[in-house]
Amino acid sequence: MSIEQLEDTAKAMVAAGKGIIAIDESTGTIKKRFDGVGVECTEENRRAYREMLLTTPGLGEHISGAILYDETLRQKTADGVPFTEVMTRAGVIPGIKVDLSTHPLAGCPGEVVTEGLDGLRARLKEYYQLGARFAKWRAVINIGDDIPTGTAIEANCHALARYASLCQEQGIVPMVEPEVLMDGDHDIDTCFEVTEVVLRSLFGALFDFNVSLEGTILKASMVLPGKDCAEKASVEEVAEATLRCLKASVPASLPGIVFLSGGQSDEDATAHLDAMNRMGTHPWPLSFSYGRAMQSAALKIWAKDPKANVAEAQKTVAQRARENGLAALGQWSK
Ligand code: 13P
Repeated sequence: MSIEQLEDTAKAMVAAGKGIIAIDESTGTIKKRFDGVGVECTEENRRAYREMLLTTPGLGEHISGAILYDETLRQKTADGVPFTEVMTRAGVIPGIKVDLSTHPLAGCPGEVVTEGLDGLRARLKEYYQLGARFAKWRAVINIGDDIPTGTAIEANCHALARYASLCQEQGIVPMVEPEVLMDGDHDIDTCFEVTEVVLRSLFGALFDFNVSLEGTILKASMVLPGKDCAEKASVEEVAEATLRCLKASVPASLPGIVFLSGGQSDEDATAHLDAMNRMGTHPWPLSFSYGRAMQSAALKIWAKDPKANVAEAQKTVAQRARENGLAALGQWSK
């Protein structure tokens, strides 16, 4: 697999005014989302819900790719068309979550490490055959009393780098996601410091494992005060701190950065991205890879009547894609 092909995929993922929809919730996570709206978490309901999302008319206008879960990558529409074919026809690149979730990191109370490296090469080979052209691995960094430790940061970045180099070996663009969680009462400066250390460690590890940055996408968390912090930050403060942090730690050769929404409101996620893109030109395109901030409105509508409300739910998916696509250009307005 040539590096040019990886670069082409990476560039297409962050094409101007386009971003990613993350619909890669594991069965446990989608159950939580379904429980919240009173839908039973059966395989058929998960399939029908993802079919609604992926068959949104005009999805490819503002969406370059979608991250799927293992089960979803193998599923078809009710009419028997593989989801990957529906996506390719719409100009939406199939992506796949390949990590096996976070687990407590032994010896480091309150911290987690992401598992899933064993057998990953074989899984990537199969995912490529099934049509996946990019992958996602999420590491989680918790902020709290005396955490994160350097040990947890290093363990997570080491795993991200090993994952990324395996992806590139198999012709798949790695999306590397070190999520600094919003949980806690820490202030925005603490989030800045932790995010900077994590990103520096990540790019050091990627270098150590010979990962080509030109064929890699960073999925970053924004620099925000913790959810329980008394001092809130304005849209401009978040945008300015996030940009300053990224510029201090992310090499310019990276083809693009996409953000996770991480529990922000739909409007905040869009406003923050828009504000960053209004603040001049940056070394990389800045776009979105939102899960909740792309889906939450549609899920509520769909759940009320999964058969009758498909078109109405899809309207909100298209609307959120349009708004976030405009924010990726710095052209969104309320
Ligand atoms: P949220 O945008 O809901 O945080 O999800 C994005 C994601 O893929 C997290 O791994």
